[in-house]
Amino acid sequence: MEKKGMDILMEQTAEEDLSKAIQDSPVFQKIMEQKHHYTTNVGDHSIAVEQEALKMCDALEKLGFHTDRKCVSVAAMCHDLGMVDRDKRYRNNFHCWQEHAENSVEEARKLIPDLDEKTEDAIRCHMWPLARHLPASPEGFIVIAADKYVSTADTLKQLLNRKKKRS
Ligand SMILES: [Fe+2]
Ligand SMILES: [Fe+2]
Repeated sequence: MEKKGMDILMEQTAEEDLSKAIQDSPVFQKIMEQKHHYTTNVGDHSIAVEQEALKMCDALEKLGFHTDRKCVSVAAMCHDLGMVDRDKRYRNNFHCWQEHAENSVEEARKLIPDLDEKTEDAIRCHMWPLARHLPASPEGFIVIAADKYVSTADTLKQLLNRKKKRS
């Protein structure tokens, strides 16, 4: 039987437990089976985005800037949840790029009923510059940077592998 929604609470749950609960949710398990970019799936991509985003938080902390790690972690883990059932949900890639961020917010709200505004905004704006607005918080920018970095690294990996096979 399929597991029901987690109903985890952002306020009361520790960062690592929240991340683990998101990863164990049925919607996340589904995106683990969906191919993404070239060499990965949407779930592993989201985990990689979370890891890179948290490294950025650590680096900023060393420079004396405190960031909200819980917001960064949840936004990174949930930013592409709206890609679930991508083929049924969207007409084409462009439609998916335009719409999935808002749908990711919806999916995140189903998992975490007390999802806060800052985290919602970070998820909603993660496709900037394709998104209409810039995020309102530094945490939102961290998620954008980590997502672009992980996606670019994945594309490069694929291109370099192709080149290696040809030579
Ligand atoms: Fe995305
Ligand atoms: Fe992404």
